[in-house]
This record gives sequence, structure tokens and C-alpha cells, in this order.
Amino acid sequence: MSPRPADVRTRYADLRAAVEHHGHRYYVLDDPEISDAEYDRLFRDLVDLETKHPELQSDDSPTQRVGGAPVDAFAKAVHRTPMLSLGNAFSPQEVEDFVRRVERLIGGVAVYVCELKIDGLAVSLTYRRGKLVRGATRGNGFEGEDVTAELRTIQSVPLTLRGVETGLPDEIEVRGEAYMPKQSFARLNEGLEERGRTYANPRSAAAGSVRQLDPRITARRGLQTFMYAVDPPGPARTQVDVLGFLEALGFRVNPHRREVSGIDEIQAYLEEWRDKRHELDYETDGVVIKVNSLSQQAELGTVARSPRWAIAYKFPPEEAQTEVEDIVVQVGRTGAATPVAWLAPVVVAGSTVRRCTLHNEDEVARKDVRVGDTVVLHKAGDVIPEIVSVVVEKRLKKARPWVMPGNCPACGADLVREEGEVVRRCLNPLCPAQRRERLRHFASRSAMDIEGMGESVIDQLVDRDYVEDPADFFSLTTEQLLTLDGFAERSAEKLLAAVDQRRTVPLPRFINALGIRHVGEHTAFTLAAQFGTLEALAAASEEDLRNTEGIGPIVATHVAAWFATEPARILLDKLARAGVRAEIATGAGGPWSGQTWVLTGSLENMSRPEAEERIRALGGTPSSSVSGKTHTVVAGPGAGSKLDKAKRLGVRVIDEPAFLNELAQAEAPLH
Ligand code: IVH
Repeated sequence: MSPRPADVRTRYADLRAAVEHHGHRYYVLDDPEISDAEYDRLFRDLVDLETKHPELQSDDSPTQRVGGAPVDAFAKAVHRTPMLSLGNAFSPQEVEDFVRRVERLIGGVAVYVCELKIDGLAVSLTYRRGKLVRGATRGNGFEGEDVTAELRTIQSVPLTLRGVETGLPDEIEVRGEAYMPKQSFARLNEGLEERGRTYANPRSAAAGSVRQLDPRITARRGLQTFMYAVDPPGPARTQVDVLGFLEALGFRVNPHRREVSGIDEIQAYLEEWRDKRHELDYETDGVVIKVNSLSQQAELGTVARSPRWAIAYKFPPEEAQTEVEDIVVQVGRTGAATPVAWLAPVVVAGSTVRRCTLHNEDEVARKDVRVGDTVVLHKAGDVIPEIVSVVVEKRLKKARPWVMPGNCPACGADLVREEGEVVRRCLNPLCPAQRRERLRHFASRSAMDIEGMGESVIDQLVDRDYVEDPADFFSLTTEQLLTLDGFAERSAEKLLAAVDQRRTVPLPRFINALGIRHVGEHTAFTLAAQFGTLEALAAASEEDLRNTEGIGPIVATHVAAWFATEPARILLDKLARAGVRAEIATGAGGPWSGQTWVLTGSLENMSRPEAEERIRALGGTPSSSVSGKTHTVVAGPGAGSKLDKAKRLGVRVIDEPAFLNELAQAEAPLH
């Protein structure tokens, strides 16, 4: 007997409340009460129940974060009240001037709140009767863009407010900062490097990710939020109350705010965070000092486009001066020759920098960096060291402009600058520097992920001639490893076991590991999804590759050319003989392990091979026939007999938007 509708509704409400509660613990409070696996199970149960009872589901369900097809352009979003900006203070003296001005205007002393200034992009979230109805960017302050679909995908943005029963006004607007954690930034850029389209810092990465016309991309970028303002402010009388109120409503609020009185306590906060900020996993470029009392804020008002009750203290740019000891050319795995500056060690933004890329010869010429020069160094996005400029006054008389060598420092072959390129390349496929880098890449985390096969081990293996190409990793012996620095019986066996474990890897990893120019993690994934096996990819013509969605002509040319070379054929053959192979089922142990999925009818947002690959990547098995054991049927327009059969057998059926949602949810990294 099927359960009574009222029971289903109760069960649904309980389950949904549980998912919302644990999502909030995890994503907003960073303090989960249950394991990731338990959370996944609850989430899955909720999806299942909504599938069986679609009438229960609504847009604000936690299962509905990622939805909606890509759009061509964003709609405009006019702000109810302008989104202001802040006046800046560049020195402690200017902060003191601010405090004096405030106290003169209000005719007495004030209490202040210090908050970290988060380096992301300002966003506005509007809730009507407790439901998120609009998310917008700041734009010019009066009018931004409607990015509701994108901001919904950020897990710490509540779709429904908590505690709404307690008499909230019909409409409230919450403002704050969306940002990209440093780690997500580094990972994102690593993936974009191959295509030469990296972001300069986490702020531009966050802005670029929010302004994706396809919310599925935003969902994968690992964005976060800290909110700091609400209008109307409800029961709050002070900014400290506002932050507490925001927390009670379910928003993520930065924990490092502090109520202070007087300039000394403000200075102490600035002093404390000057260095400590580098330990945070997000970028802060300053401290915002706000008058705490909301009535005093109102009294002080706004001039031009900045409130008189707050100021942004900007930390001095983290720069350091050091000396360029040498400029050496490094040859990468694809032969690209990059000038790198070796520096006298210096601490910038919390860590010691010894070297820094100069990108290419044009860049060296533009900055005119010479060996022996004193240079100003900073870190892009608090992460990547960069030379800002040369201190010309300190230049030694004998310093000569740097000239890019015409030959590869590792093998002596000509360094060739191809038309339209800024980099010079060593085109010798046998170049030892390229070989070393190819080996490093092969073993690296995003490729074969051989644990313990780090740079220094690889260098030693190459120096001793134990390893020439990646296939040689698989025939290493304990005796050989025992000759390396720091290896004993146990560690040698551990490394061999790690190597052995990677004889079978998912196809995208295998393709990435080959080190084909222009093929990074992302492109490898696309190729794997399209071609399904290494053999099919190797057999593909340039024409086939060009016709692949997501593969441009340059990539197509390089991939086809790579597989046609003799060294490539030899390598693939040798790997095969060593028992190294790409597995097709990529997600063993993934969240969809043991589930059989059937796609029927047409898909509008992705190709069928991509859909199948993504199912596999999560551990599921795509199948073409429906049986009682089928987990889910994804039915698009035109679905026929399979859909009928699924209904007859009582198999779960979902449409494409629901499928996209479940994919994105299952693929989203938990952190
Ligand atoms: S208060 C009236 N608090 O800094 C403006 N802003 O120019 C109220 N920001 O656009 C802003 N962290 O994007 C405030 N804790 C914080 C902040 C913060 C970052 C950004 C915000 C604003 C810019 C100020």
C-alpha cells in the first residue's frame, strides 16, 4: 500500500529540513555534524523523493541550486538603493583623521566595528517572503546585472531564510562579498594555464565566475560568500547586531569582526591583521572600519558615493625589494623556453620567494630586468610572485640588457619563435629538459597521480638513467630505488606499490598525462568524453577532432600531429606492454557506484557521449536498455519505448534539467 499523502509530505518536510540544516552546518558554519557520505545519502534521498513526488518540489529546494539553461546575456538589475563604495585610507594617520572627523560630526565618541575587507565582488541578494528572488552584481552602483542563477549555485547563499516565522518584512536585501578562496583560485588557474587564459587574482576570478552565462560553470568554481549588510536591518541597532542578525538568517558572516572603541584599538586590529591575513584561505586587501551604531550612521549620512560612517584601510601593497641573481631559461614539457629570475631570498606576503617567472623575452624587455638589478616584487593574488619593476637608481653600471639565448640550454637545439607566438620553443623531442618536465607532468597530481613520485625523485631517476620515458616508471626495481637519496627498503616498496596502483587510470588522466601541447585537464576530459577510448582518440583524424564540440582547430591540429609521431607511437606501445591502460569506467567508488543510468530521447545541453562520460566519472554505468535494475532513466524530448518500459517497471525517470542538477551536485567538490 502506498503511504498516505500526508505522511509523504511530513517525510518530505523532515528530509528537506535535515538537508538544509546539514548544508548550513557545512557550507555556512564550516562545522559539519555528519560525515560527507551521510550528507550525500540524505541529499540523494531527497532527490529520490522529489522524483517520485514532483508536486512536492519547489524552486527553493536544496536540490535546485544548479538549474536553468545558459543565457545569451544578463538582464539588468536596478538597485533599490545605490550600492555605494568606501573612501580609502592608505595610512594609520588617515584612519585617525577619519575617527576625528566622525567624532567631530557626532559631537562625541563612537564605538566602531573592524571587519576584514574581502577581496571579491560586491553582490546583492533580495529575498521576498523569505525566498531568494534576485541576485545581482554591483555594476556601476545604480544598476548591475541579474546573476540570480549564478549566485544560487554558491552553497552558502541561502535559498530560503531561516527563522522567517519571526516577522520579517516582506522584502529584504542583503549585501556582501562573493569571493574565490585562494586554493580554488590556484586550482582554476592551473587548469586554465594550457589555454593561456588565467585570471590575474582571486578577485577577477570570482568576478569572471559569477559572470558566466552558464550557471553550471559558476557551480564548479568553488565560490564563497561573506555578507555584511541588510536592509531593513530588522531588530539590529548596531553593525555588530546586523552581523549577528545575518547569521541568524542563515548567511555566512566573517568571524574576524571586532567591536572596538578608540583609535588605539583600531590600530591594534590593523596591526594584528597586517601579517595574519596571509594565513587566511581568502584574500583581504584591507580592513573596513564602520561606526557601530546605526542611528549614528544615519546621522553621519553619505557624501558623493561613500558613506561618512565607514572607511576602508588598505594594507600597503605587499612588496619587497630584492636582487636578481640570475636569469635562466627553463624548458617546459612542450619545449616552451621561459626566462626565470633567480632572486636573493625574500619574504613577500607571508612566504619566502626565491624565483619568479618572467614569462617570455618580450616581458623581460618591457620591464628591462637585468642580472644584478634590484627589483620590486609582489604576489599576484597573494599567490604568484611577480616582478613589478626595476629600481633603476640601484642599477650597477656593468648591467647589460638580458638577451634570450638562441639555443636550448639543455640540448643546444635552436630555440624557435613561431609566427604569432610570444614564446620560443625547443623543438627537439629528445631534449633532456623537456623529458624531465614530461616525466614530472606524467606523474603529477592532475595526471597519473603517482604518490611519492615528486620532482627530486624524478631528477635522480633521470640522472641515473633509470627512467627515460614515462613507461620506464613501471619497470623500476627496489634495487634501483635503494640507490636514491633517502630511500630504504620500506620507502622503496611503498613507491613501487604506488606506481603499480596507477597501471590503470581513468581515461582523462591518461590523456592529460601524455603531455600533448594545448591539452590540459579540461581538454583531456572533453576528448575522453567524445572518443571513449585511447584507441579511438589515436585513430581520430584532424577533421574528426575539429568536429568535436569544445575542441578548437589549434588543439585538433596538435592532437592529430602528436599521435602521428614516431615517439608517440613508441611510447604508447611501451606503456601498453608495461600493462598501463586507461580505464573506461572512471568513477569506481564514486557517488553513483553501482547505479545504472539510461539516457533516452534527445539531450539539449550536452552531447550523449559527454553525458555518459560524466555518469561514468561519478561511478555510474550508462546503459542502453531499461530493466528492473536500472537506477534512473533520463528522458528527453522524443523518448519512446524505453520511457514506457521504465514507467511500467516503476523505474525512476527524470528530465534533462533534473539530470543536470544531479550531475552538478554530485560533481561539486565538497570543499
Ligand atoms: S561595507 C557603503 N564591508 O569593499 C559600502 N565592504 O568600496 C558598504 N568590501 O564595494 C561596504 N569587504 O565590495 C564593506 N566587510 C566589508 C567589505 C566590503 C569587502 C568591498 C565591497 C565594497 C568595497 C568598498
